[in-house]
Amino acid sequence: MRRVVGILLALAMMSFGVASAAPAGKVTVLCSPNPAWCDAVKAEFPKATGLQVDFVRLSSGEALARLRAERQNPSFDVWFGGTGDPHIVANEEGLTEFLRPRAWTDLRAEFRDAVAGKYIPLYAGILGWAVNERLLNEKNLPVPRTWRDLADPRYKGLVAYPNPNTSGTGYTLVATLVQVYGEKTAFDLLKAIHKNVAEYSRSGAGPGQLAGRGEVAVGITFVHDAVDQVLKGFPITYGAPRDGTGYEIGGLSLVKATQNRANAVAFIDWALTPEAQALAASEGQSYQIPSNGKTGVPRIAPRFQDFNVIKYDFLKYGSAAVRDGLVKKWTTEVFPLPK
Ligand code: G6P
Repeated sequence: MRRVVGILLALAMMSFGVASAAPAGKVTVLCSPNPAWCDAVKAEFPKATGLQVDFVRLSSGEALARLRAERQNPSFDVWFGGTGDPHIVANEEGLTEFLRPRAWTDLRAEFRDAVAGKYIPLYAGILGWAVNERLLNEKNLPVPRTWRDLADPRYKGLVAYPNPNTSGTGYTLVATLVQVYGEKTAFDLLKAIHKNVAEYSRSGAGPGQLAGRGEVAVGITFVHDAVDQVLKGFPITYGAPRDGTGYEIGGLSLVKATQNRANAVAFIDWALTPEAQALAASEGQSYQIPSNGKTGVPRIAPRFQDFNVIKYDFLKYGSAAVRDGLVKKWTTEVFPLPK
C-alpha cells in the first residue's frame, strides 16, 4: 500500500514538474588561462555549489573579439582569467560589468588599486622568457639579457612570441616595450626582432612550448608559463629581461548582458575563495600569484622582487583606443615585414 502511495506521489510530482531530478543550474565560462586550470574548475565548481560549468578556452584577445561579436546576445556568463588589458577594454565598452565580490576585502590591495575597479583581479604574473640554453650552446650564442639583445641578427629564426591580436601575453609584450622605451623606439625594436622571429604563436603559452621542444631558443611568455615547462621536464631555463619587464593582473569579469546573473555571481564568488584559487597550482599547471591574500602563493611562483618589473599602467594600456591602436600598428607595420 505504502509503495502504491509512493508511486502515485511521484507521478503527481512529475506532472507538476517538480520531479526530483530537476536540471541543476549552469554557468557558461569564457576561460582564458591554461586549459588544465579550466578543466579543474569544471570538475570542482559543481562539487562546491551543485552548479555545472561549461567553458570555452580562448586566448585573451580572441575572448575580447568574441564578447564584442556577441554583445547583444552573449553565450557566456563570466570571463575567467586572461590578461587584464582586454578586461578593461570590455568594461569600457559595456561588455562586462564590475561587481564587488564577497572576497573583495581579502584581495591584494595593490592588485585592486592597479585596475581601479574595472575588473576583479584573479592573479598576477610577470612577463619574461623561456630559454633553451642547450640550443644556444650548440650555436655558440650567449643567453640574451635584454629586449635589445633579441634584435641581434645572430638570433635569426630562434625567437618566438605570441601574436598580440589573439594573445594577451603578446599585447603585454608590445605595451611593455612601449612603456620601457617609448613608442618609436619600441616599434623599431619590434621590427628588428621580427627578423629573428620563427613563429608568432596564437596563445601566450605557445612560445615556451616551442623553446621546450628546441624549435626556438627564446620563447617570450609569462615566467610562470616557463616554470610549467620546466616542471614538465623540458630543457629550459627562465628569466626576464634586465632592461625592465611588464606584468599582468589576470582578470575575472561578469558578462553584462548575461541572463544567468545569480549563477554567474555564485561562480565569481567561488572562484575567489582560497580553495578554488589553490586549484591553479595543484591541478591547473598555473603558477601565478593568486589575488586573494589568504590563498597560499605557490612555492615555485615567480616573485616580483626577483625581476626588474616596471610600474605597468593598466588603465592607459587597457583603454580601447590605446590597445586597439597598438595592435593595429603592430599588425600593419611589423607583422608583414619581410624577414
Ligand atoms: C597563460 C598564463 C596566464 C595568462 C594567459 C593569457 O595561460 O598562464 O597567466 O593570463 O596565458 O593567455 P593569452 O593566450 O591570451 O596570452
